[in-house]
Amino acid sequence: MTKTPADRAAELRELINFHIYRYHVLAAPVITDSEYDELYWELVQLEEEHPELVTPDSPTMRVAGQARDDLPKVQHAATVLSLQNAFSDDDVRAWRERIGKLLPTTVDLDYVVEPKFDGLSIALTYENGVFVQGATRGDGDIGEDVTPNLRTIRHLPLRIPADPDGPPAPPRLVVRGEIYFELSTFEELNRQRIEAGEPPFVNPRNAASGALRQLNPRITAERPLSLTCYTILDGDGDLPQTQWDTLHYLQGLGFPVMVDLCAHYDDLEELIAYLHTWDKRRKTLDFEIDGLVIKVNDLRIMADLGVVGKDPRGSVAFKFPAEERTTRLLDVAFNVGRTGVLTPNAVLDPVVVSGVTVKQATLHNFDYVAEKDIRIGDTVIVKRSGEVIPYVVGPVADLRDGSEQPIRPPAACPVCGSSITQQPGEVAVYCPNPACPERVVRAIEYFVSQGAMDIEGMGERIVRQLVATGLIRDVADLYFLTADQFLELEGFAQKKAENLLAAIDASRSRPLPRVLAALGIKGVGGTIAELLVSHYPSMEQLMQASQDALQNIEGLGPQISGAIVAFFADTANRALIDKLKQGGVKMDAEVKARASDKLAGLTFVLTGTLPTMTRGQADELIEQHGGKTSGSVSKKTSYVLAGEAPGSKLDKARELGVPEIDEDGLKALLD
Ligand code: IVH
Repeated sequence: MTKTPADRAAELRELINFHIYRYHVLAAPVITDSEYDELYWELVQLEEEHPELVTPDSPTMRVAGQARDDLPKVQHAATVLSLQNAFSDDDVRAWRERIGKLLPTTVDLDYVVEPKFDGLSIALTYENGVFVQGATRGDGDIGEDVTPNLRTIRHLPLRIPADPDGPPAPPRLVVRGEIYFELSTFEELNRQRIEAGEPPFVNPRNAASGALRQLNPRITAERPLSLTCYTILDGDGDLPQTQWDTLHYLQGLGFPVMVDLCAHYDDLEELIAYLHTWDKRRKTLDFEIDGLVIKVNDLRIMADLGVVGKDPRGSVAFKFPAEERTTRLLDVAFNVGRTGVLTPNAVLDPVVVSGVTVKQATLHNFDYVAEKDIRIGDTVIVKRSGEVIPYVVGPVADLRDGSEQPIRPPAACPVCGSSITQQPGEVAVYCPNPACPERVVRAIEYFVSQGAMDIEGMGERIVRQLVATGLIRDVADLYFLTADQFLELEGFAQKKAENLLAAIDASRSRPLPRVLAALGIKGVGGTIAELLVSHYPSMEQLMQASQDALQNIEGLGPQISGAIVAFFADTANRALIDKLKQGGVKMDAEVKARASDKLAGLTFVLTGTLPTMTRGQADELIEQHGGKTSGSVSKKTSYVLAGEAPGSKLDKARELGVPEIDEDGLKALLD
C-alpha cells in the first residue's frame, strides 16, 4: 500500500523530532547529520508541495535544537536562522528561479559564496566594543549562554576593534560565527583520549559541541577550538549593506573571517562552475566543510525576500554529497597481507555513500576494533571521502539490542588454513606461512608497485592470474616469463604480452635502493634503502653486513638492523636474491668515479642559495672531488660556501674565523 503524503509527513515529523531529541537533548545521535538532513529536507519539500500538511508542531516550524538544561539560557536578539539545502546544480538554478519570481524583473543579483563550516553556530554580542555574551543557537530563539567558555578561544576578540587603528566599533553588534575543531587538533585530542582510556569522539563536530557546551570553562580551554565569523545578526549604527562588505568589515574589526575562501559572482552559471572547484579544494583544508553557502549579496534584497520556516529565502546551502552513512555490520572477513598480518574487514548491509554502493569497509586492525568496541550486528557509521577506502567510524552503541557479538580473530588463516600466531606484546595476528597463496600475491603486488620495481601494467588481476596458474611462485619468477606463457592467460593478446615483457625488462635496471625496498624487509622503505645503499653500494656487501655495523649507521635502529640481518640469514631469501640476479636484476649501485682528489681532507658548510647550482649539485661536486660537506659550522670546517641570503651559519663562521667562499671560489679550488 502506498503512503499518502499526509502519512509520510506525519511519519517524518515524528522521526525528525525523535532525532532532534537524540542529538540535542541526549547528545547521543543515532543517525548521521547527512541522514538527518535528508529526512528534514524531504519534509520541507513535502510541506512546500502540500502547504495544508504543515502543523504547528512540525520541526520545520522551529530551529532544531533544545538547550541543555544545566547551562543558562539566553534569548537571541534576532532569530538565528538556518539554511535551505541544494544538492545539485539544478537545485541552485531552481532556487534562483524561486526568488526571481518574488523580485522585480529589473533586478540584477550578485552573490557571495562561502564555505559551509561544519561546526557549531554561535552568536557573539559586543557592547561598546566589549565582548559581553556568547550563545549557542539552541532552538534559534533561545540558546545556551557559553560566554566563559568562548572567552577561552584565543581568536575571539574580547574587544573590538582589535587593532586600535581599525574602524570604530558600533555601539552594539551581534556577530554570527561557527566554532569548529581543526582536523589536526581533533586527531591529537582523540589520540590523547585513547591514551587516557577515554572513548574518542566520532567526529570534529561532536567534539566541538562537547568542548563548548561544558559547565566548566577549564575543560573548554584544554581543547583548543577555532572560530570563524561570517555575518552580522543584529546591531546598531552604520553597518555594511552587502554581504561582501560585511565579511571585510568584520575582518577589519578583528574577527577571524576566511575572506580568502569566499568569492563574489554576478553570473549564476560561473558561480555554479566555481562550486565544483571545491570537490578537490575542500580536501586541502585543515577543517571540515559540508558544502558551500550561496548568499544574495545585497542585504536589503536579502531582508525583503524574507524567511520560509527557519530558512532565509535569499541564501542556500549547496551540500556536498553525504560521506557518512549508517548501516548494519553483518559479518567480518579477514584479509591476509604480504607480511601475513590479518586485517578485519566489515561486511555491510549495502549502503550508498556519496553515490557509491559500499558493501565492505575496513576496520583497520584489531586494536581499532577493540578501541571503538565494534561488534557484529552493530549499526555502524561508514565513511567514505574522496579516494579513501571506506572505513567504519564506529558503532551506534545506543541501538544495540544485546544480540551483538564481539569480533575475534580466526584460529586459522582463511586462505591456507595455517594456525594463526601472535607476536608477544603485539595485538596483530599473523598467518605464519610464507607460501600462503595470498601472502605471495600481496608480496608480488608490492614488488611490482610504483614505489618499488614499478612494472607498468602489472596490476592485482594479472598477479592473481599468474599465481593461480602456477606461472610464478615468487617475485624472481617474473624475470623468466615468456610471451608464450602470457598468451596462455585469459585476456592476453600479443600486444599486451609484449608490453608487459618490456615493462618487466625495464625494471631489471632499477636503482639498487628500489630493489632493496621491493623485497619488503620490515622497516626498509625507500628512504632507509637509500641510506643503506649509500653505505653498502652492492647487494653482496649488504648481505654480509653485521648487525653491529648496521646499527652504527646514523638513522638505523636495532629493530630495522635486526630485521635486515634476519632477512639475509634466511636461506630462502638468499636463494631468491640469487634467482633475481640470474633473472638479470641489477644488484649494484652505480658508483660515480671520483673525479679528483683536489678537495680531499676539506670540509664544507653550505648556506644560502648559490647562483647556478642546487644544494644537492654542490654536495655532489664536492664529494666527487674527495671533499665532505657538513650541516654545521665548527672549528674543523675548512670553508663556508655562501650564496644569496646566507643564514646564521655565516655569522658563526665569521665568529670562528672560518674562511668564506662563493660558488666561483669553489670552482677556483677545482681549477
Ligand atoms: S549563514 C541567515 N554562512 O550552517 C544565514 N551559515 O545549515 C544563515 N554555517 O546554522 C546562516 N557556515 O551554523 C551561514 N558561511 C556560512 C556558514 C553557515 C556554516 C552553518 C550555520 C547554520 C547552518 C545551516
